[in-house]
Amino acid sequence: MTAKLTIPDLWAMAEAGTPLSMITCYDYPSARLIDAAGVDIVLVGDSVAMTVLGYPNTLPATMDMMVVFAGAVARGCQRAFVLGDMPYMSYQTSVPEAIRNAGRFMAEAGVDGVKLEGGRTMVEAVRGIVNAGIPVMGHVGLTPQTATALGGMKAQGRTAERAIKVAEDAIALDRAGCFAVVIEAVPEAVTGMIVAKLDCPTIGIGAGNGTSGQVLVLHDLAGINHGRLAKFVKRYSDVRSEMLRGVEAYIEEVRSGAFPAAEHVYSVDPSELEGLQQRLNREDLEGASYLTKEHSWDWEPLP
Ligand code: KIV
Repeated sequence: MTAKLTIPDLWAMAEAGTPLSMITCYDYPSARLIDAAGVDIVLVGDSVAMTVLGYPNTLPATMDMMVVFAGAVARGCQRAFVLGDMPYMSYQTSVPEAIRNAGRFMAEAGVDGVKLEGGRTMVEAVRGIVNAGIPVMGHVGLTPQTATALGGMKAQGRTAERAIKVAEDAIALDRAGCFAVVIEAVPEAVTGMIVAKLDCPTIGIGAGNGTSGQVLVLHDLAGINHGRLAKFVKRYSDVRSEMLRGVEAYIEEVRSGAFPAAEHVYSVDPSELEGLQQRLNREDLEGASYLTKEHSWDWEPLP
């Protein structure tokens, strides 16, 4: 049995200069796969709304949805530290609401902590959740839940005036008790200056190489998604092409009759077949009247 990573483990890795790998994923088989591959942190991101559910942004994700996805991922991870991503309006309305929803992730989904977006304005929520004993990862820079206010899904902190705001957000989260902070879509040089001001580890996405670790969405890095990718995404495999090849081959074999083949079908004793044929000849199969309750429950379990 593999030991579950804890926050002190993650801090020790960051302290020792061992880069932390983090992946966003949303389901049990994928969680098992990336956990077995050795990923350190798994985020059940609200990006599920776009990546898996086909919405144009992350705002439609709800707590009820997120708890279901997070539970599936938590059950699939033996070693990785699992985070539930707090969806839009699950923590912005009040501190008690934020604590209650973070608690739902812990109690109902079985995750190890939560992530939330926003900086200085989220300090009270972060303190409340941390004081309730729930680890919080912060998220600054490009925060998709407030992308409209930030001028769209684009890089942040590209002027001194904008960069100082990102820095203040990250510092506020660090001081409020976040165990780590995600920095998204910020120039590498700016990220480096912000990281130098923080005590906690940082996880970058589109923030260059100076953070304690990196995060990408599984669907992006594995090539399950197709279409336009953000500049910061690197595709490590082409799962979509491989899946497409398999699905097309299946459709082709169904159409040609090549599937199912002998090895995919169940056999039956010839004497049973003979008995069946006799009964088929004898019984009046027109209408369901002969299917008495007794008959209809008389099923043989499948081998
Ligand atoms: O929702 C998500 O997947 C995220 C990561 C990309 C950081 O927030």
